[in-house]
Amino acid sequence: MARTLISPSILSADFARLSEEAARVEGAADWLHVDVMDNHFVPNLTLGLPVVESLLKSTTIPIDCHLMIEDPDRWAPQYAEAGAGSVTFHVEAAAAPIRLARQLRSLGSRAGMALKPATPIEPYADLLPELDMLLIMTVEPGFGGQKFLDVVVPKIRRAKAAIGDLDVWLQVDGGVSESTIERCAEAGADVFVAGNSVYGAADPAAAIAGLRAAAHRAQG
Ligand code: DX5
Ligand code: ZN
Repeated sequence: MARTLISPSILSADFARLSEEAARVEGAADWLHVDVMDNHFVPNLTLGLPVVESLLKSTTIPIDCHLMIEDPDRWAPQYAEAGAGSVTFHVEAAAAPIRLARQLRSLGSRAGMALKPATPIEPYADLLPELDMLLIMTVEPGFGGQKFLDVVVPKIRRAKAAIGDLDVWLQVDGGVSESTIERCAEAGADVFVAGNSVYGAADPAAAIAGLRAAAHRAQG
């Protein structure tokens, strides 16, 4: 059976009640996706290290940090030191992605690398053994609730082929819902971020179960 991990994004949750929002998906979510934005790499500002440190103390769900920031070489290691189980930086922003990935791993975190929709996978194929996860963005990063970009699906497929037998998770993020998750799973994605489709639902835990069932159907 293929791996199927669901990582709800708290970007669509109530920022004033984050520990309660995390509790609503405990037992259903495999990871909790935390979007860090600096208003430079993307045109939006969210939260940073102090909020991540508080969340780490208030939930047992492992934290999946997605850093949409400039100069991740400088800032990303602090999230690993704080105890995030996974830290993902954008390759477009990293000066030395191999050094950074090695540093994240040495600090005890999983190392993730993200690609914006227009960034090709091919130039980075040789970096894959340095990574624990590759994130293929399926919207332009910066905001929740955007429409899934179908044009990215062939890249998910090529990324899966490049990963081959390596133990690298393939995450998709942006516009993932019960109607788009099957395309992602069929193309080879195995870690699914979902903001609006989880936290926009009346019952977030039930929404996660629905997403998981749809992904399983596509994975066969
Ligand atoms: C967007 C963020 C996503 C966002 C996804 O830049 O990286 O994690 O929360 O939200 P939805 O699932 O609503 O597209
Ligand atoms: Zn994200």
